[in-house]
Amino acid sequence: MSKTRTVFACQACGFESSKWLGRCPDCGEWNSFVEEHAPAPAPAGKGRPDVAMGNASQPRPYEDVDVAEAARVPSGIGEFDRVLGGGIVPGSMVLIGGEPGIGKSTLLLQVAHLLGRTHGAVLYVSGEESERQVKLRGERLGVAGGGLFLATETSLERILEHVDAVRPAALVVDSVQTMYSPKFASAPGSISQVREVATQLLFLAKGRGITTFLIGHVTKDGSLAGPKSLEHIVDTVLYFEGEKRQHHRIVRAVKNRFGAVSELGVFEMTEKGLVPVPNPSALFLAERPVGSPGSAVVATLEGTRPMLVEVQALVSPTSFGTPRRMALGVDANRTNLLLAVLEKRVGLELMSDDVFVSVAGGLEVNEPAADLGVAAAVASSFRNRALPAHTTVFGEVGLAGEVRAIGQPALRAREAAVMGFKRCLLPTRNLPLDVPGLELIGVSSLEGALERLFDEG
Ligand code: TYD
Ligand code: MG
Repeated sequence: MSKTRTVFACQACGFESSKWLGRCPDCGEWNSFVEEHAPAPAPAGKGRPDVAMGNASQPRPYEDVDVAEAARVPSGIGEFDRVLGGGIVPGSMVLIGGEPGIGKSTLLLQVAHLLGRTHGAVLYVSGEESERQVKLRGERLGVAGGGLFLATETSLERILEHVDAVRPAALVVDSVQTMYSPKFASAPGSISQVREVATQLLFLAKGRGITTFLIGHVTKDGSLAGPKSLEHIVDTVLYFEGEKRQHHRIVRAVKNRFGAVSELGVFEMTEKGLVPVPNPSALFLAERPVGSPGSAVVATLEGTRPMLVEVQALVSPTSFGTPRRMALGVDANRTNLLLAVLEKRVGLELMSDDVFVSVAGGLEVNEPAADLGVAAAVASSFRNRALPAHTTVFGEVGLAGEVRAIGQPALRAREAAVMGFKRCLLPTRNLPLDVPGLELIGVSSLEGALERLFDEG
């Protein structure tokens, strides 16, 4: 038994301190310190005995390093492969985070089922549900075995035994917070347990080339108890976004050693599990109130994927002293800035109005290209005049009221054409572009853009 030392660890970010603190100096969380027993650091010169990293490494000349990419394994779920950057990289470790009940187990069971048929045996270890419960879910999803093994287990040591017995090509651990090893003295679910368990699984994944999926629960306020501190360990981090009450689910890559980040997959939760949505623009525009004021369609880009989303604004007279400003799905500071630009450069008197801005469908749009859309939606609600139905807008708005060029205009404009839009307002600096079937109107100022929009309407 190795010696242990007592530390206090922040359960939100993993920061360690030798004494208890009321507020974490690292992440700012209050009352998050818990006493834990960390293993004593190994004496200098001696490695940790339980660390088995596979074969010892050998320095190699740069020019001899083989860069031929290992073939990716398609999971069979198009949207999942897309977030991973084009399929699963064998031997990689993927962390999938999200709120409880958002669909992590569902997605991974679907993936495990398909991988079991194409990739080799898959071991699905659940620390939360019995094999029977997992199978009951599987029946609804149409999972039919064939290379898929289930185990209910929370002990890391026994998972390692199961891996020895089954020799799987892929391992799913649902969830990493339920797993523990008695080797580490701190309580199951505590941040040091989670980290140690994940590290041991990483050694397993890298040492034996087992593709590993870790499921991690994330707390409601977005602070990630545990999973956040694992981000640097794993190769790829995916997070579920979206509202549990809505049907669609968004899976976003926030870190990917093998592909683009901010790549995103869209799913719909049905009674038969998560179904990929290959055309998210249609989904996000499905309930657009065409012809009503305060609604603008913007062409945004998520990773490499263009998407049309609806930005809604509601401007109404303030009933109490200070006007309220609220932004859902767009950055609140940026929205305030746009309101100031609308006041000063366009002359909209918003001073005595409440302004609410939201992105329909619960999507987060965090790129400046949405500026023009937000401003247009606010102006439309303020003037109580609808924007033309078949027009989409994009462009960054500067403090002088100028419309600035943005990245990848052709991709966005093409998506608009595909979705049946006839006209697109975009920064003049992004022209010329060639998009068949779409009238492209360059604008260089916010004022000019609004004139164009309301002239047509
Ligand atoms: P689950 O995958 O258990 O969530 P997590 O593992 O992230 O906690 O998903 C649970 C929710 O999904 C639950 O509220 C029911 C819903 N669901 C469906 O709507 N259809 C389905 O086919 C399945 C399996 C679950
Ligand atoms: Mg689950």
